[in-house]
Amino acid sequence: MEFKHVSVLLDETVSSLNIRPDGIYVDGTLGGGGHAYEVCSRLGENGRLIGIDQDEFAIGRATERLKPFEDRVTIVRDNYVNIRSVLQGLGISGVDGIYLDLGVSSFQFDDAERGFSYRTDAPLDMRMDKRETQTARDIVNEYSEKELFRMIRDYGEDPFAQNIAKHIVRARSEKPIETTFELVEIIKGAIPAKIRAKKGHPAKQTFQAIRIELNHELDVLRDSLDTMIDLLNPGGRLSIITFHSLEDRIVKNHFRTVENPCICPPEFPVCVCGRKSKGHVVTRKPILPTEEEMETNPRSKSAKLRVFEKTGGDE
Ligand SMILES: C[S@@+](CC[C@H](N)C(=O)[O-])C[C@H]1O[C@@H](n2cnc3c(N)ncnc32)[C@H](O)[C@@H]1O
Ligand SMILES: [Zn+2]
Repeated sequence: MEFKHVSVLLDETVSSLNIRPDGIYVDGTLGGGGHAYEVCSRLGENGRLIGIDQDEFAIGRATERLKPFEDRVTIVRDNYVNIRSVLQGLGISGVDGIYLDLGVSSFQFDDAERGFSYRTDAPLDMRMDKRETQTARDIVNEYSEKELFRMIRDYGEDPFAQNIAKHIVRARSEKPIETTFELVEIIKGAIPAKIRAKKGHPAKQTFQAIRIELNHELDVLRDSLDTMIDLLNPGGRLSIITFHSLEDRIVKNHFRTVENPCICPPEFPVCVCGRKSKGHVVTRKPILPTEEEMETNPRSKSAKLRVFEKTGGDE
């Protein structure tokens, strides 16, 4: 099977970075290198792109795709939460732009063996980085009912979280839950038939919740935002594409706080807390895909792009 991944908000993301031919840019979620290819094609011989991905398969794909730009690309297998040490290792202390295109790629999702999809039967896995030992199977079989409930409610925003957790615990008391389809059947049993008929796939939200939990997706994002902004050179930009409200809220709120970090009461005539703004939000409202993109690439439907600019560039 040939796996394909169509990059989301491609032109919008690349143009949001205001690329300089001699600048240094970081792609924190390299994937198949779709965005990276466009960034590289705007770089001159003194420009550089550092591409980070934790997935071995993505690294292979991107390495091939970016061959024409070999002289200006460095690809590193790591988690973008380690961006500071990755750059330190390359002797880089500041960069002109960083971008993230969060979540899983189509080729991870469509590769049945990875266990990300509720549409194909496979062992429960969902690891983005196969060097990690914990899998979705461990979460489903080892978390307490309360932990499962919390995870499905908070990361899946599923109104039936409590019942789904109860059904999982009941099913696994008979035998361990091993595969995606076993889990899908259990989830179906926990959602009333009337509602099941109306909503999208009944397992979508629970699968999303397990994936986020297993790969620590929200913690990684939250823990990286300050570091990424600190690493930007004056006038440098951070552009982030999110795919669900939980991620988008983190980015939106963080950008706002960094733009206006003052915590003085509004009645104070001047700021005394001493917290200084590090830049400004470029996108008051997020940039969304066009109707045309949503039609041709359904994965783009929930995408939102937000951009932050570090203080100090020529305005
Ligand atoms: C949506 S895809 C990126 C697609 C890419 N922009 C393109 O156009 O081809 C997301 C990629 O980010 C990687 N990824 C997700 N979270 C990561 C993290 N915390 N650290 C490193 N890579 C991550 C995934 O392995 C996946 O390959
Ligand atoms: Zn203040």
